[in-house]
Amino acid sequence: MAVPAAAPLPCPLLLAVCWVVAAGTAAGAKILQSPSNLNYSFIHICTLNWTWNPPENISSSCNLEYSSDIITNGVPEDRTVWSKNPFRVMDAQLNEEMRLRVRSECKNDNTSEPSSWVETSLLPEGIPGTAAVDLSCVWHNLEYMACTWRPGKNASSDTNYTLFYWFDGLENPKKCSNSSVNQGIFECIFSLTFPKVTSNYPAISVLIRGDSEEIMPVCASKNPTTLVKPATPRQLSVSKTNDRIDLKWSESETFPKNCLQYEVKCCNDDLDTGRIILSEMNSVSIDGIDANSKYTFKVRAKPKWDCYNSDFHSDWSEEKSIGEKRDSTVYVVLIITIPLVVAVSTIVLLVYLKRLKILILPPIPDPREILKRMFGEQNEDSQSSAKDDPMNGFDRLIIEEEINSLILTETSESTSTEKENR
Ligand SMILES: *[C@@H]1O[C@H](CO)[C@@H](O)[C@H](O)[C@H]1NC(C)=O
Ligand SMILES: *[C@@H]1O[C@H](CO)[C@@H](O)[C@H](O)[C@H]1NC(C)=O
Ligand SMILES: *[C@@H]1O[C@H](CO)[C@@H](O)[C@H](O)[C@H]1NC(C)=O
Ligand SMILES: *[C@@H]1O[C@H](CO)[C@@H](O)[C@H](O)[C@H]1NC(C)=O
Ligand SMILES: *[C@@H]1O[C@H](CO)[C@@H](O)[C@H](O)[C@H]1NC(C)=O
Ligand SMILES: *[C@@H]1O[C@H](CO)[C@@H](O)[C@H](O)[C@H]1NC(C)=O
Ligand SMILES: *[C@@H]1O[C@H](CO)[C@@H](O)[C@H](O)[C@H]1NC(C)=O
Repeated sequence: MAVPAAAPLPCPLLLAVCWVVAAGTAAGAKILQSPSNLNYSFIHICTLNWTWNPPENISSSCNLEYSSDIITNGVPEDRTVWSKNPFRVMDAQLNEEMRLRVRSECKNDNTSEPSSWVETSLLPEGIPGTAAVDLSCVWHNLEYMACTWRPGKNASSDTNYTLFYWFDGLENPKKCSNSSVNQGIFECIFSLTFPKVTSNYPAISVLIRGDSEEIMPVCASKNPTTLVKPATPRQLSVSKTNDRIDLKWSESETFPKNCLQYEVKCCNDDLDTGRIILSEMNSVSIDGIDANSKYTFKVRAKPKWDCYNSDFHSDWSEEKSIGEKRDSTVYVVLIITIPLVVAVSTIVLLVYLKRLKILILPPIPDPREILKRMFGEQNEDSQSSAKDDPMNGFDRLIIEEEINSLILTETSESTSTEKENR
């Protein structure tokens, strides 16, 4: 292609590079030796100690430091760390390939070049896709940690997982033994308490592994302060004096003072639309209440951000109510039933009136109808017409009966008046 045009370009570049290197060596800059014997070991269940030996022939003027990078699944973490110690400690995930590369540098010294990188890797063990997934933990009431997870997609359905945990202060990793499986979700609960004065909690290392080599282990580091969930407030009590309501509930026994705040859902009977009152204490007073209303309350606790970086709430407490409500249901029932009764009785009355009208003013027979009936009876079979139209026949019967009775009553009345006249 465009070889002749492109060819002159690299030459000056190469020359420049060569010149820089030559100048460097001419000025006495030397390339440092790389660290040797790069290796790793586990300190705790999920903590790795990468170690190496210092390079040889380091001049006394060199302020030697090691820079190291981590590459997880082929992606550099972009977080170079410099240290004077020939080791680096870090959390391991175990379900991903992890490489560490390290080189030696003379810091603040432009007379020497950094060494070339040396690299070693930690490969995951087990079959891909068998490691536990969706691990999440909640620290309940500063008393116990509850962790849940699901089996990996490639794990057989009868896979048993076991959780181990460790934190700074525990001599050895511990196995979590209070575990259960519910609808494919594993849960394990372990006790986790610290003295009340503690304000800095150590990170909790959690390791989940299967009971066979095929199951890939997985590690996670959990910061307990972000996982704090207080216990549900108990013993909610409500009292009323004049136009004030006082609410009280039990104080937490496990939280340090002033580390909890409370949300009181209040007032309406329907708490879903009620308003929320915030309280820093385990009590709250509400003024200006309506004596004729019923008030319902529930409370939940929330860790304060001064103490814990946790967004978890406690569950809502049981609901407590006070006051009597004018029974509005009676009004509602009345509002609905009165018009209903009126409507129904109107209809009944109308129907009755219509019937009365028939009685008082009998319908004038339509001559066409009579003619039609006469000819109809001649032409058609009367039985079949009754079958075809039984309702008409029935109506006709009633009307005829009524007419007969009317005639009867009229005649009897006329006879009685005649009698009186005599
Ligand atoms: C790394 O250390 C382990 C023991 O912890 C040892 O068996 C292994 O040979 C070492 N590897 C190298 C490359 O030194
Ligand atoms: C890591 O290993 C090195 C060399 O064995 C040791 O000096 C260092 O104390 C270890 N680091 C920790 C945190 O154990
Ligand atoms: C260290 O320097 C000595 C002499 O100064 C030399 O004999 C030796 O080969 C050097 N070692 C390395 C690893 O370069
Ligand atoms: C090293 O840096 C210093 C100043 O930072 C400069 O005076 C000196 O010439 C540099 N030496 C080389 C070999 O580049
Ligand atoms: C499950 O195993 C298959 C082959 O063994 C692999 O291709 C797949 O990526 C694995 N699934 C997961 C989630 O790793
Ligand atoms: C899991 O544990 C149960 C009971 O402890 C056992 O019957 C089952 O075989 C185990 N599953 C595997 C894959 O080992
Ligand atoms: C296991 O956890 C449940 C739920 O928190 C608890 O009720 C039970 O006492 C625990 N059992 C043991 C042996 O710790």
